[in-house]
Amino acid sequence: MNGVDGMDGKVALVTGGSRGIGLAAARGLAQLGATVVLVGRTTESATRAADLLLSDGLDVVPVGCDVSNADDVARMAQDLGPLAAVDVLVCAAGVMSSPASRTIRSDPAEWSQVMATNLDGVFHVVHTFVPGMIERRSGRVITVSACLGRFSGPGTAGGLAPYRVSKAAVNALTKNLAAEVLSRGVLADAMCPGHCRTDMGGENAPRSAEEGADTIVWLATREVEGAQTGLLWEDRAVVPW
Ligand SMILES: NC(=O)c1ccc[n+]([C@@H]2O[C@H](COP(=O)([O-])OP(=O)(O)OC[C@H]3O[C@@H](n4cnc5c(N)ncnc54)[C@H](OP(=O)(O)O)[C@@H]3O)[C@@H](O)[C@H]2O)c1
Repeated sequence: MNGVDGMDGKVALVTGGSRGIGLAAARGLAQLGATVVLVGRTTESATRAADLLLSDGLDVVPVGCDVSNADDVARMAQDLGPLAAVDVLVCAAGVMSSPASRTIRSDPAEWSQVMATNLDGVFHVVHTFVPGMIERRSGRVITVSACLGRFSGPGTAGGLAPYRVSKAAVNALTKNLAAEVLSRGVLADAMCPGHCRTDMGGENAPRSAEEGADTIVWLATREVEGAQTGLLWEDRAVVPW
């Protein structure tokens, strides 16, 4: 995977691919020639989104999988057969927490659900697909984090506790993973898409889903030679964790 401009012959698996930023990333990667495994929480949501891309002639395979469930992720990998040899793993599946969820007001069930999707979900797909990358000595992992998870940014402003903490943990997971896999030919990075017009971001957000996804596609395709990695990115630039 050295210095690819396009992605012909590459497989990209995008969780959260059925809507919003993940769907925009799936489209961007497929337009560069990748075969995209587009993952939604259900087969229906994944198929609906994939049909949009297939009608544009793009190479997309829809898969329903609840990333918070380790068994479901393992089942997905098994069902994918050769497509489980993923070159690019984009972890965009995520849920927001309730606006009222200050730490001591967070409902324990909501806390668990947000952590299970936003953090455990990243762990499950990394745990499932990165060993193959290590074997092949090639791969890229891109976790979709958020400014709200940054310790140097608005991540410590209080409120939205399950969401902020889950994204801070995704940052930690990514940095730790990057240190473990760099010498095995795998790049792992986190990115902030900014506030985007999606179901999560709302219709008044300043950025489009495509603008949010731009850094994902760039991280997936930039030159390996001399690449900075194990970092948090926003608008193709490194930002502090
Ligand atoms: N939008 C923003 O302003 C913003 C800002 C910063 C960070 N982010 C992050 O960017 C990522 C994408 O956000 P978005 O705005 O595009 O969100 P979105 O429009 O609400 O879409 C969420 C996506 O996550 C999937 N998903 C949720 N729970 C899942 C589960 N348990 N298993 C599998 N898939 C699951 C959904 O699948 P279904 O369609 O099947 O439900 C959907 O594809 C998230 O990680 C979010 O935290 C967003």
